[in-house]
Order: sequence, then C-alpha cells, then structure tokens
Amino acid sequence: MVISADREECSAGDLDVNATMDDDGVGVLRRFALTSARVALLIHRNRWRSRMKPIASIDEVTEKLAETGYVSGRALSTVVFLALKLGRPLFLEGEAGVGKTEVAKALSAMLGRRLIRLQCYEGLDSASAVYEWNFAAQMLAIRAAEARGGVGRDALGNELFTDDFLIERPLLEAMRQREGGAPVLLIDELDRTDEPFEAFLLEALSDFQVTIPELGTIRAPEPPIVILTSNRTREVHDALKRRCLYHWVDYPDFGREMEILRARAPEATEELSRQVVAFVQRLRSEDLFKKPGVAETIDWAKCLLALDAVDLGPEVIADTIGALLKYQDDIRKLEGSESRRILDEVKAELASG
Ligand SMILES: Nc1ncnc2c1ncn2[C@@H]1O[C@H](COP(=O)(O)OP(=O)(O)O)[C@@H](O)[C@H]1O
Ligand SMILES: [Mg+2]
Repeated sequence: MVISADREECSAGDLDVNATMDDDGVGVLRRFALTSARVALLIHRNRWRSRMKPIASIDEVTEKLAETGYVSGRALSTVVFLALKLGRPLFLEGEAGVGKTEVAKALSAMLGRRLIRLQCYEGLDSASAVYEWNFAAQMLAIRAAEARGGVGRDALGNELFTDDFLIERPLLEAMRQREGGAPVLLIDELDRTDEPFEAFLLEALSDFQVTIPELGTIRAPEPPIVILTSNRTREVHDALKRRCLYHWVDYPDFGREMEILRARAPEATEELSRQVVAFVQRLRSEDLFKKPGVAETIDWAKCLLALDAVDLGPEVIADTIGALLKYQDDIRKLEGSESRRILDEVKAELASG
C-alpha cells in the first residue's frame, strides 16, 4: 500500500497494518489510530509545502493549469506567471465564453487556495462588495438588552459594532488572514458595474485595506491573488487597467480548441471533435451578432454526444443549433442551405488535411 501526497511517499511499513495480526483488538485500534494521525500529518505537511513552493517557470504554470483541465497558451501562462511573481492583479478581457472566469477557478485549484468571487452587476455598492452590519441581529440584541435592563447606551453601542454583527462580503473576506495563504479573489465581469464602483475598487486594490469606521482599518496580511475579468461591454477606466497586468483572451485556434475539447468532453471521438471544432471556428468567421465561445463548443459537443451523433449532418445541426447560437437572427442566418454549405466546406477542408 502506498499513499502518495505530492512528492513524498509513505509505504506499508509506515502504516504497519499487517503487523497487527497477533495483537489484541485494542492494540490494533490504537496502532491504527496512531498511524492514521501520522499519515494525515504527512499529507497536511506536503500540501502546505506545495502551497508555499513558488511557481518556478512559465512552463510550470501551463503544466499545472493543464492538470486542472485548463488549456493555456504561452501568452496567458506568461501573464499568470508574472502576476504571481510580482503580486500584481491580472485583468483579463475578452468575449463571453472564452475562458476568463475559468482562469481564476483553475488558479485556485492549482495553488490550493480558496476562491472568493465578487460577481459584478449594475448598482453594486460597497455594502454588497465589502461589508454590511447585520441590522436584524442588532435589533434583536437591542431588544434583549432592553428586556434585561440596565445596559448603558455606550456599552450597548460598543457591543453592537463588533465582528459578531459584521457580515463580510467578498472584498473584506479576501483581506482576512487565513491558513494556507492568501485566497484567489475573482472580480468577475467588471464591465457590468458603474464608474464610482470602479474608482472605489482602484483604491481597494492599491493598498489592500478596508476601513470600517466603527472597527478601524483592516489590512490584508498578504495581498490576495486578484483576477479581474471584463466582457468589454464598455471600456474599463485606464487608471484601473494601469494597476493590473493585462491580457486579451482570444478565441482559441483549431489546435487549442481540440485540446480543450479533449480535456472537457473526453467522451467525444477524435473525428466528431474535429468536425465540431472546425464548424465552430468557421462560424466565428461569419457575420453573427454573438459568435460562439469555447463554452458553446463544449456544450454543443455534449449535446451531440447525448444524441449519440457520430458525424455532423444538416439535420443534427438544425436540432442542436441552440447550444451554439443564442440569438434568433443568428439562428435564422444558418437555416436551410446555409448550414449545409458551411458543413460541406468544413468537411472538404478536413478531408484535405
Ligand atoms: N482554455 C480553456 N481550457 C479549458 N476549458 C476552457 C478553456 N476556455 C474555456 N473553457 C471552458 O469554457 C467554459 C466557459 O468559460 P468561462 O471562463 O466561463 O468564460 P468567460 O468567463 O470568458 O465568459 C468553462 O466552463 C470552461 O469549461
Ligand atoms: Mg466569465
């Protein structure tokens, strides 16, 4: 029996399970409990070591992201490496569904850090992003104090504004000390918020501290690893971009999209995947309102698999087009002979190598 935790191994000798054959029952249990505790400690120590070990190269970033199922190109791995090494926030911009949010999830898995996500939306304010006082609990505490009687106003005030009544939102959560290192903070779809929030964020990201008037200033002991994403429905202000390392996440080329499909829809045959990827890549060159992203490619492949399709044909494309295109105008463009024409061209291209 071999238990492997990262690089170190613990063998059957360590566990000593077989050697307990002639012990009495209590001896077996005691020894098992001791060895289990030793193994747990070993695994914990190795996890800790791997978290502490800095990523040494751009290739290592690519390899470790691949282990989590994320296929990264050289340019993306380079900015991720630099963001980690220099401790700078990483700003990822690109069309919807090209794998921006997934970078943060993959990073958190690869580093063994917690992922804290702040989903942006219009009207997002600091109460939802940083902290809020739990008014309901404060009211109950006031009622209870009144019922008890004899509590002074000042004493009650001090009691009400403590950690017990504080609701932590993602930005504050990301600044708290935690075992295993700073978390990955994902500020997702920043383009959905308004400019005042952007200005507020600029300040929060520059000194990684939050001031709560009643409690004082809370400063992150170690800055979180920050990933910001934008689908570019509007331009994000230059000042914020300047704080960050920037990368435009583009649609993958044929080879990379094949790799992504192998990682995310491994049940698909190589032939079906080639047809799917070639068809999607070809669609992206058409004049569409919303081009299909990688997410749509994966979804489509899964739909085709669920229908037991082994080969692309005009009928199955018509039946499943809703997995690829989400606007009626785009779908209409592909109706009838158009999808057959594209499919014929794609198949001819694939056949000619
Ligand atoms: N490079 C990639 N490697 C692996 N999976 C990817 C990649 N890019 C996109 N995906 C897949 O596409 C889906 C959508 O990606 P997501 O990060 O949500 O897109 P975005 O945030 O850019 O809109 C993810 O669930 C992921 O499975
Ligand atoms: Mg996203």
